[in-house]
Amino acid sequence: MIKKKSGYTVAILGATGAVGRETLEILEERKFPMIGLRLFASARSAGEVMTCLGKEYTVEELTDSSSFDGVDLAFISATDAISREYGHRLGAAGIAVIDDSAVFRMDDGVPLVVPEVNAAALHAMSRGIVSIPNCTTTPLVMALKPLHDAVGVKRVVVTTFQSVSGTGAAAMDELMDQTKDLLAFRDVTAKVYPYQIAFNLLPHIGSFSEGGDCSEEIKIAKETRKILGAANLRVTATTVRVPVLRCHSEAINVELERPLKANDARAALAAMPGVIVYDDPLKKLYPMPIDATGKDEVYIGRIREDESITNGLNLWVVSDNLRKGAALNAIQIAECLVQN
Ligand SMILES: NC(=O)c1ccc[n+]([C@@H]2O[C@H](COP(=O)([O-])OP(=O)(O)OC[C@H]3O[C@@H](n4cnc5c(N)ncnc54)[C@H](OP(=O)(O)O)[C@@H]3O)[C@@H](O)[C@H]2O)c1
Repeated sequence: MIKKKSGYTVAILGATGAVGRETLEILEERKFPMIGLRLFASARSAGEVMTCLGKEYTVEELTDSSSFDGVDLAFISATDAISREYGHRLGAAGIAVIDDSAVFRMDDGVPLVVPEVNAAALHAMSRGIVSIPNCTTTPLVMALKPLHDAVGVKRVVVTTFQSVSGTGAAAMDELMDQTKDLLAFRDVTAKVYPYQIAFNLLPHIGSFSEGGDCSEEIKIAKETRKILGAANLRVTATTVRVPVLRCHSEAINVELERPLKANDARAALAAMPGVIVYDDPLKKLYPMPIDATGKDEVYIGRIREDESITNGLNLWVVSDNLRKGAALNAIQIAECLVQN
């Protein structure tokens, strides 16, 4: 928790990245009580001028000798290496660290938080660090929480359709460049992904384990259990990168402990803060990435009973990975910390 003040000095490590830029926009939109702002990135973007709440800030190079004097709250949205190097250092200096990477998510004493689902976990913050979940875990737990509270969730089978912005700004450029090249009948170059992503999809996110799971699939299962406090919940995932710029979509099959009619599931999901049920297939209404881009809410549609198993339910979930999947969730955590 952060000592109550009328305004806070905020640092963003990775301010020039896809999440960092979104963080600046959302701090401005939500009028976060800021009295100071420090922006850090690599030498590549040091000196760039960025604007927030009508004021200009120059990006500083993050180095071993960077000083964080006076900083109350730091968002780390850079790389795993930067999180490893600065997370504990800033936390130990009394700065509240909100970390976007996977580095600390499963650590004891580091809450993994989606405020609508488990804000109370922030009370267990003992190392100065809070982690935000993976950008696919956040919408998944937003959808599962009301179902779990209503009738219990036993098993989850999720297939993700993840946009390239989940990999960062360079991947967005790669999709645009490859698309332009292909439309102009030129050869494409793949640098960020192992294969062409334009007009293609890759069933591969992160690194592969010996058993053949992607690291992203393992993260989803572990993080979901931690956030829902459901150690025995069975979760299996298949993660797929798709040629979409923004928003992750998920096809979710849930096996519930007790029966729940689709209409009751619809009502429970609609009552969940931060969720919009958008579900009228006969009128061709279902959520798509173009609907959820730039939006704060998690959109849920295609809610239907799955008769192939006992107490089965199918859902389709779409959410903006740069907002609720990253920057917005981090700022909502910061709002909880300063309110407490
Ligand atoms: N994208 C998502 O949907 C999403 C969702 C949840 C969590 N996350 C996590 O958020 C973090 C940022 O992701 P992103 O998508 O914003 O990546 P990104 O677009 O690649 O941005 C990376 C940022 O880190 C900075 N950076 C890289 N190396 C650095 C170094 N050595 N020293 C200082 N700054 C350095 C970059 O600065 P330069 O501009 O100078 O290179 C840039 O500001 C990652 O940990 C990611 O796993 C991302």
